[in-house]
Amino acid sequence: MNLNKQHVIFFLLFAFIQLHAQEKSTIPVIQELLDKMTLDEKIGQLNLLTPGGAVATGSVVSKDVETKIKAGQVGGLFGVSGPDKVRVAQELAVNNTRLKIPLLFGSDVIHGYKTTFPIPLGMSCSWDLDLIEKSARIAAVEATADGINWNFSPMVDIARDPRWGRIAEGAGEDPYLGSAIASAMVKGYQGTNLSEPNTMLSCVKHFALYGASQAGRDYHTVDMSKVKMFNQYLPPYKAAIDAGVASIMTSFNDVDGIPATGNKWLLTDLLRDSWGFKGFVVSDYTSLNEMIPHGLGNLQDVSALSLKAGLDMDMVGEGFLTTLKKSVEEGRVTEEEITQACRRILEAKYKLGLFDDPYRYLESNRPKKDILTQGHRQFAREVAARSFVLLKNHKSILPIKKNAKIALVGPLADSRNNMLGTWAPTGNPDLAVTVIEGFKKVAPNATISYAKGANITDDKELAKKVNVFGPRVVIDKRTPEAMIKEAVDAANSSDVVVAVVGEASEMSGESASRTDISISESQKKLIQALVATGKPVTLVLMSGRPLTIPEEYEMPVSVLQVWHSGVEAGNAIADVVFGNYNPSGKLTTTWPRNVGQIPIYHSIKNTGRPNPKEGYEKFKSNYLDMPNTPLFPFGYGLSYTTFEYSNLQLDKLEISAGETLNVTVTVKNTGNYDGEEIIQLYLSDVVRSITPPKRQLKGFKKVKLKKGERKEVTLTLTEEDLKFYNSDLDFVAELGEFVVYVGPNSDAELSGSFVLK
Ligand code: BGC
Repeated sequence: MNLNKQHVIFFLLFAFIQLHAQEKSTIPVIQELLDKMTLDEKIGQLNLLTPGGAVATGSVVSKDVETKIKAGQVGGLFGVSGPDKVRVAQELAVNNTRLKIPLLFGSDVIHGYKTTFPIPLGMSCSWDLDLIEKSARIAAVEATADGINWNFSPMVDIARDPRWGRIAEGAGEDPYLGSAIASAMVKGYQGTNLSEPNTMLSCVKHFALYGASQAGRDYHTVDMSKVKMFNQYLPPYKAAIDAGVASIMTSFNDVDGIPATGNKWLLTDLLRDSWGFKGFVVSDYTSLNEMIPHGLGNLQDVSALSLKAGLDMDMVGEGFLTTLKKSVEEGRVTEEEITQACRRILEAKYKLGLFDDPYRYLESNRPKKDILTQGHRQFAREVAARSFVLLKNHKSILPIKKNAKIALVGPLADSRNNMLGTWAPTGNPDLAVTVIEGFKKVAPNATISYAKGANITDDKELAKKVNVFGPRVVIDKRTPEAMIKEAVDAANSSDVVVAVVGEASEMSGESASRTDISISESQKKLIQALVATGKPVTLVLMSGRPLTIPEEYEMPVSVLQVWHSGVEAGNAIADVVFGNYNPSGKLTTTWPRNVGQIPIYHSIKNTGRPNPKEGYEKFKSNYLDMPNTPLFPFGYGLSYTTFEYSNLQLDKLEISAGETLNVTVTVKNTGNYDGEEIIQLYLSDVVRSITPPKRQLKGFKKVKLKKGERKEVTLTLTEEDLKFYNSDLDFVAELGEFVVYVGPNSDAELSGSFVLK
């Protein structure tokens, strides 16, 4: 192309306007405010502190918070709650600073505020988007009643390594389901109008790829191809942005060699230029400072680098506060770059309506009216029941009769402190319903004998690490043998045994990675002794992650996976165990047989040497000592009833760009209970320009079927569902054959094929 002088002038003018347009706010009051602000005042807005009253999740808490607020050096706080306390802090800002700019009040409301819902991984197993959105709505109603207007949720990091403790906080391994859940949660928190007093800013995290930390070790390096990023890991963040999320939090890890917090490709080229994100970006807890040990320079270097990369707010680290002015003076950053970050934060405050009324979330009668209502608790109980996954029902032991003689045993059967689960700092464990309480309430005519049976772990050192937020693992004074004997005696004098075993809540979550994710030795011994009594045994398995349970699975036991299911845990567990609710949850993560199979997930690739069968074959892609298949595939979960799938039909054999395809299947309830089934559709792209996953989730529907009922269910595929990012990172659908599978989990067998022409 030949550029003449006119073109060049036009181009320069355009670039000039673009550059300056960035700094201007389209909201006149915000622009007026920015025009009045000094450089120091602007830098102050970029500073997020925590007085450390709540849970400190890093190694430092902020100092001299009051002095800093009064000096205009703080843009927001987190870890402060309750209308009275928030008011005091807000008054410090509004009454003492020159421009009276109100503060943001953030919090980690991860799975409910005071009405604690199941851990997010558990909730995702409901595959119920309305339910999940409503849980986020309730969380927002309660949190805003307590003065919070900014929520550090949803956590949408795709996680395929159950060693990583934070797998508990997300929606599992799949980008399609993960995106749908991300969007539902953002809508639930933010509602349709952010200036309503019961809606809050949502903050999607952790951008990006945090779930892919090597070896499942928290905060560890991430190294991933762009093709994998775009196809498997980035979609849920993008879905949150498309749903209008107001803010985004960077992750601790590096992305392609540059820590996310200072990664310009991630925070500007991708997030803003390509995805069009208009909100503000906050760092994770001191993730700015952590770029020093990452090896990127001193505090001034990493602060300048991060601002230029597109970071707007610095959480706790005070790198922006203490170095940016100097960097402006030295010409390392521009005042315009600071103004831009400040503008984005002020615009968020404006959207919340804080400039109209800084005290709008602070009605002192709201907490009583809106928090932990009967309705919220009842809903939490339903959500919990829907998050459980029935992994095995040996000889249909479950449901148990309400008048049975039951030995209720295990270290988690009477443990209030472990019910809420990880990352529930706003909840109160004292309000949680234990399993034994739930059993007594739901089955008042049952005869229940309780015995602890075993410690969660006998390892005192591990117990110390897990008990950082209060006693989760309590090691009994009795010997393990004496505890087991008591449980066996209870079993021998009962009709059935229910053993509530698994992980303490803080054995998953942040900084809670494990290299061994099996059931502890102490509990294994208990289970073996119980099975040896010959009584029908049900394991109620609590955990924040998939566990490796091949030995227990082989035993003649039933297994109900209940995660850590929140404030109504005990009631919900009893509802399912006694058949008030027929379980319908399906796993959103693949469960490995052992840790050596990790990473293991349903959308694996075929390889050039696929192993076509279960057994070993030389020179095929397999292991000498373990099959390739997991213990439970993604999407797996049983019911008290059974479902039969038949008659898969595609309404077309060929489609062209822009057309849709209807896939219909007949599902019949062939068992003895009414039930719900999550029907799943997987797609396989037979030939394409980059190696395709064997199959990928591309649709699902939850249906209710009465005993004996049959329904035709239709799932629709669009061209969008056939698209993927190719090696040029273009999002394309390539012509050719596709195979559709529909069924109860990712091993779905019914199939049909069509051609995109
Ligand atoms: C976590 C974030 C959290 C933040 C604030 C960090 O340690 O990684 O998920 O939002 O603390 O509590």
